[in-house]
Amino acid sequence: MALSLCFFGFLCLILFPDHVAQSQNVEFVFHGFKGQEANLTREGASIIKPTGLLRLTNRSNFVTGHAFYTKPIPIINRSNSSSSSLNAHFFSTSFVFCIIPPGSGRGGHGFAFVLSPSPQLPGAQDEHYLGIFNESNDGKSSNHIFAVEFDTVKGYNEPSDSEGNHVAININGMLNSSATKPAAYTEKGNEQNERDIKLESGDPILAWIEYDGQQKVVNVTISPATKPKPSKPLITLQKDLTSILLDSMYVGFSASTGEKSSSHYILGWSFSTKGVAPPLNLSQLPKPPPKEESPSSFKPQVTAVIATLSVLTIILLGSLFVLTLYKWLVHARHEILEDWELDCPHRFKYRDLYAATKGFKESEVIGVGGFGAVYKGILPATGSEVAVKKIVRSSTRGMREFAAEIESLGRLRHKNLVNLQGWCKHKNDLLIVYDYIPNGSLDSLIYKPKNNFVLSWEKRFSILKGIASGLLYLHEEWEQVVIHRDVKSSNVLIDAEMNPRLGDFGLARLYDHDKLSHTTNVVGTIGYIAPELSRTGKVSTSSDVFAYGVLLLEVATGRRPIESSNFILVDWVMESYQMGQILDPVDPRLNTIFVVEEVELVLELGLLCSHPRPGARPTMRQVTRYLSGDEPLPTINDDWSSLDSHGFSEVNSRMLEGISITDTMNITNPHLSSSSNGGISTGSINRGR
Ligand SMILES: *[C@@H]1O[C@H](CO)[C@@H](O)[C@H](O)[C@H]1NC(C)=O
Ligand SMILES: *[C@@H]1O[C@H](CO)[C@@H](O)[C@H](O)[C@H]1NC(C)=O
Ligand SMILES: *[C@@H]1O[C@H](CO)[C@@H](O)[C@H](O)[C@H]1NC(C)=O
Ligand SMILES: *[C@@H]1O[C@H](CO)[C@@H](O)[C@H](O)[C@H]1NC(C)=O
Ligand SMILES: *[C@@H]1O[C@H](CO)[C@@H](O)[C@H](O)[C@H]1NC(C)=O
Ligand SMILES: *[C@@H]1O[C@H](CO)[C@@H](O)[C@H](O)[C@H]1NC(C)=O
Ligand SMILES: *[C@@H]1O[C@H](CO)[C@@H](O)[C@H](O)[C@H]1NC(C)=O
Ligand SMILES: *[C@@H]1O[C@H](CO)[C@@H](O)[C@H](O)[C@H]1NC(C)=O
Repeated sequence: MALSLCFFGFLCLILFPDHVAQSQNVEFVFHGFKGQEANLTREGASIIKPTGLLRLTNRSNFVTGHAFYTKPIPIINRSNSSSSSLNAHFFSTSFVFCIIPPGSGRGGHGFAFVLSPSPQLPGAQDEHYLGIFNESNDGKSSNHIFAVEFDTVKGYNEPSDSEGNHVAININGMLNSSATKPAAYTEKGNEQNERDIKLESGDPILAWIEYDGQQKVVNVTISPATKPKPSKPLITLQKDLTSILLDSMYVGFSASTGEKSSSHYILGWSFSTKGVAPPLNLSQLPKPPPKEESPSSFKPQVTAVIATLSVLTIILLGSLFVLTLYKWLVHARHEILEDWELDCPHRFKYRDLYAATKGFKESEVIGVGGFGAVYKGILPATGSEVAVKKIVRSSTRGMREFAAEIESLGRLRHKNLVNLQGWCKHKNDLLIVYDYIPNGSLDSLIYKPKNNFVLSWEKRFSILKGIASGLLYLHEEWEQVVIHRDVKSSNVLIDAEMNPRLGDFGLARLYDHDKLSHTTNVVGTIGYIAPELSRTGKVSTSSDVFAYGVLLLEVATGRRPIESSNFILVDWVMESYQMGQILDPVDPRLNTIFVVEEVELVLELGLLCSHPRPGARPTMRQVTRYLSGDEPLPTINDDWSSLDSHGFSEVNSRMLEGISITDTMNITNPHLSSSSNGGISTGSINRGR
């Protein structure tokens, strides 16, 4: 037998000198991988860095990276002339690697040295599969894959892997390792004492893997790159790889990351099928990557420039920080020192309101009113919903009066008022915090209802009574007279029980604190401004009554106070009244389902309240008595014609072109204007009389 082997070997040597030996045995050394792009088949995240480092994965999550020696390696020669040659196969490899974990916390997952039938591993998964296998092929003998893993994350079901930091031999799958050991090495002369190596320490680590087909033994050894090769391998596995390996295999590396991620680097690599892999000369390897990985590596000059720039930036940022801190301190002190503010129980912290409204995000705006935008917010401390009105003021003058006013308004409590929870000032902004009222405003319920919803007469009537009650509280029942100044349908919010709540009360007065002169500005909303107001600028409870009258007509007719320059709601209802057809203007959407006496009452009271002469208007107390039926409504004094030139129409028409109005409204409503009960102009009323 031995003789025939010798003879065969001799024959080969004679027939194919050199050639055979060369084609059978492969040996290579890479001291770094600079310029070796053609010798490596790479896939996924793996790249060769300009410094010559092979990086299998970057620190992105859930990536894989492969790098295989481009040419296949004949590992087993099955040409069947000699059975013993089958077992003569042998390979040996050594390489230096570095695993750089993230700046904080643990990294993952790991990498493996791989013998594979193909340099491509399509469909291979990341995490525990290390980019070699996937759920469906893991453990299958058809894989023909031999791998040695250097893993930093716990295995799935091996308790010995629970340390995470381990080395293992995996055949045809990752989930069942053939042998596994926590990463460690021994020193010469002290073989019994194993010392741990942290694979993801970022330090270069040397690894050796040898297989002897005759002895059927795989040895895996690791040590810090600075130490000599330990004489005792970390893992010695008795295993015949003949049935696992194919005749020719691709050799290389595969790595993956998962939820945890590290960068996996190979610094140098040698491989041989004919003897011990050539030793790596450490001084010829590229510099190991920095432990705190920078996005890219630069030439020293560039690094110097960057360093200088960084220092400058830090100095700049530092001074900026100090400046900001100083300003903040000054500001904070300023805030703290204003002792009057200390006595404000309704004061909110800007920080809280900022958080509540997600930084006053556009998407949180629930309305834009006369003085600014309203944001929905959720207070971080209590989780309660609030509405935050942001009033942008031109100055912070009169802040003390402002706060005093709001503090007093904060004490107002009535079931038909929107509860004012508090306030906050921040730079030029004033923030007012209200209860959040879920059902939106009355005007949107009347004019823009969802799903063809029609507000029933019963609801409308009770809403009107509620508003009257709220206004009465402001005018007469609280410790001081509060004039609302901006009564209108969009300032009436409807709560979950369909109760009306008046919002924005008293704000107009606050607004005035900001102004140099009271006469230059009329605060209010077109269509609701009492005639005397625009002439004298003098507000009174009766100007609120006027606006309430317009609101009564609005709710009963479903039409806006002014829809175009020749449709004025008050005049239109007045005309019907004078023609003895008071029910004509009633909202057609009610479909004649209403109590006639109530509708008549509301329309006539609306006319009475919006009488051009303030003296002719009832007080809110009278209004509530009329509405409750405690007192009969007086007949409307028909002296409107005498007020022609200064009447409502003229005033409010003029306001249409006016400048000094804090809120505007959509005066053209094509939908309503085109309805069958078209408007009759003021002119026609006046001419008719
Ligand atoms: C395998 O070995 C036989 C004889 O031992 C030789 O003729 C043949 O070329 C070898 N094949 C390879 C791929 O090296
Ligand atoms: C790498 O490839 C080049 C040709 O592209 C070749 O000359 C060189 O020998 C190869 N090196 C190794 C180690 O295989
Ligand atoms: C990491 O590699 C993946 C795959 O090549 C790539 O999509 C990703 O952008 C890289 N991430 C970084 C931070 O470079
Ligand atoms: C050896 O070769 C013979 C024919 O030459 C073939 O029948 C047999 O299957 C081969 N054995 C192996 C193990 O390849
Ligand atoms: C699993 O891997 C194999 C081999 O790489 C591939 O053919 C197969 O498509 C993969 N399966 C899935 C589900 O990705
Ligand atoms: C792993 O080994 C266990 C028993 O040791 C076996 O039950 C299980 O099927 C194996 N899993 C795989 C994927 O090979
Ligand atoms: C594996 O290690 C054992 C024990 O150190 C040694 O006797 C054997 O020669 C080694 N085998 C290889 C292929 O290196
Ligand atoms: C390693 O390389 C350096 C220079 O590249 C050389 O001076 C030294 O002799 C080499 N060492 C070995 C052991 O080959």
